Amino acid sequence: MNFSEINSGNVDEMLGTGPVPIASYVSEEDYRREIDTVFKRCWLIAGTEQELKKPGDWKVKRLDFANSSVVLIRDREGAVRAFHNMCSHRGNKLVSDNGYETTGGNKAGILSCRFHGWVFDAKGALVHVPLEDQFPECFSKDENGLTPIHCAVWQGFIFINLSEAEPEPLESYLGSFAGHFDGFPFSALTQSFAYHTILDTNWKVGMDAFAEAYHVATLHAGALGNLVKCGIDGVKFHGIHKSSSVYFDMKPAHTPVAEIANRYATSNLASRYHQGRLELPETINPAKLDNFAFELAICFPNMLIHVAQDTWFTHQFWPISSGRTLWEGRFYMPGIRTNSGLFAAEYTHLLARSAWLEDTGTMEDTYQAMLSGAKDRQWLMKEEVLIRHQLAVIEALAGTGGHRPVA
Ligand code: FES
Ligand SMILES: [Fe+2]
Repeated sequence: MNFSEINSGNVDEMLGTGPVPIASYVSEEDYRREIDTVFKRCWLIAGTEQELKKPGDWKVKRLDFANSSVVLIRDREGAVRAFHNMCSHRGNKLVSDNGYETTGGNKAGILSCRFHGWVFDAKGALVHVPLEDQFPECFSKDENGLTPIHCAVWQGFIFINLSEAEPEPLESYLGSFAGHFDGFPFSALTQSFAYHTILDTNWKVGMDAFAEAYHVATLHAGALGNLVKCGIDGVKFHGIHKSSSVYFDMKPAHTPVAEIANRYATSNLASRYHQGRLELPETINPAKLDNFAFELAICFPNMLIHVAQDTWFTHQFWPISSGRTLWEGRFYMPGIRTNSGLFAAEYTHLLARSAWLEDTGTMEDTYQAMLSGAKDRQWLMKEEVLIRHQLAVIEALAGTGGHRPVA
């Protein structure tokens, strides 16, 4: 299937409308294929420039699916570089990554191995070896720098690509997806919060759960109790990536405090007060919905990017194994300058936290039920088309049977 032609074709004909098989969510073999052909070849977002503000700032992130760990570091000239987190001496991790990720930095812009003290600069060169004269003559610092990983930046998102061969340039990998966000002030929204957890589920179950708004009215009846109706519109396919607009019809909030918060909290997605006066790039909300809540976009393979007035937030799913996945949720708002702003930001924060708890709460249940084998297929309604497209792209790249309609 040629995904670059999907917008000009008949989407139902190209993607199908029938039920799709569950097998690829639980198959170890399909998982291995997805790792080898998708995660080890595609560009993946491993961090943001906000995390590496100054030269010498670094971030280490575990990449369990590849049994690897990446160091991102900003060099003195301001460029962000990526290296395998492995010392050239006896292979220790340069920076311990006991957690799933760690940040740090130093003005000298160096990384020093904690085992025997070998020192590397931000360009990956080996610059100091304690007791160097005791190594054999054939040893050369020049030939023992860090192993680089392909790295590129778009809109402040730091992408890595684990492919050993030269990958497709990031610009062409993103295609029209990149232009869809032109003019959105990602870097101006600096107040943030983040959550993460490891879930006993397949990475695709997690991605699917955030790729539709069909669940919102039922699953989020608690966190978004003032919601009357919601859905998606303005779906656009950008080759292997995609974007859509989520709309919310809302009634007044059910408590006086929530109603006050909704008036102030411009980043609050459950507030009906800000829907009519949005300042967003023309490309966002292409259907020009009056009740637009936020743009829901998927940067293939594992990143959901959402933007709205005064906010952007992301969900990302990192495979650990076929049935184990790291989820990361991050939310960004304008900097807080007033007490009312602080109140509104806290309210927005708690609302998102509650909604994300509701979202992630289904993912282990879904996967466990899939493992039972009681059903061999799942049904997708019209507005679940982003899931259908995601499965079709995975199937095309990995050669798995994720999307093929069940007979
Ligand atoms: S393993 Fe890094 S200095 Fe020895
Ligand atoms: Fe949700």
